[in-house]
Amino acid sequence: MHKNIVVAVDGPAGSGKSSVSKEVAKRAGLQYIDSGALYRAITLYVLKHCGEQFTRDDVCRLLGDIQLKQVFNNDGSCTTYCNGLDVSETIRNETVATHIGKISDIVAVREYVNMLMRMWAKDHAIIVDGRDIGTVVFPDADIKIYLDATVEERALRRAREYAQKGKNIDVNELKMHIARRDQQDMNRPYGALKKAHDAVYIDTSAMTQQEVIDYIYSLVRNVMI
Ligand code: DC
Repeated sequence: MHKNIVVAVDGPAGSGKSSVSKEVAKRAGLQYIDSGALYRAITLYVLKHCGEQFTRDDVCRLLGDIQLKQVFNNDGSCTTYCNGLDVSETIRNETVATHIGKISDIVAVREYVNMLMRMWAKDHAIIVDGRDIGTVVFPDADIKIYLDATVEERALRRAREYAQKGKNIDVNELKMHIARRDQQDMNRPYGALKKAHDAVYIDTSAMTQQEVIDYIYSLVRNVMI
């Protein structure tokens, strides 16, 4: 038996954090935690109860009513429950994306989400992805990874995902959107995207997803032995 290790995976949007983390989790027998999904679920709950004109006080008041749970399934998918309801799909909608910044900037919300993840980490070996996992949430994580890729490469990956769904999206527009999101993620007062000083930096721009998975898995195995 190995101890309850923590693997922290941070990086910008579109760097492949969640796909890679889920695969590593499956292979290494870890639980996967999607921290972004927790912020999304809180956002969805606030929107449902207060509409789009919510205030900071509304959010703090509602936090006490929210019960979040995440289950990492055998097929490698992750289900997020909010007060018993599976919200894994709905949290990906546009309205949530529009308002999540305002919610995830609130310190009380961040403390709540961080507390939950630290509690889950007590009972399980976990791999968690997000923006501030290695810097704020688990500064003593056994392994810290910072996944990166150029804006161009991330835009191309997104465009390919859209194309697979039959949608044609302008790559330049995607590039602009991704660059703007990076700026927002890196320049926030709390929970900013930052590489921890002791994180392994992986530029995935010229790597296949399998190469990234194999590399992280080899790091995890070394710690588990
Ligand atoms: O990883 P994602 O795209 O699902 O994250 C959704 C949003 O949540 C994103 O705008 C940044 C925020 N987030 C955060 O503030 N801290 C985290 N640890 C993870 C996500």
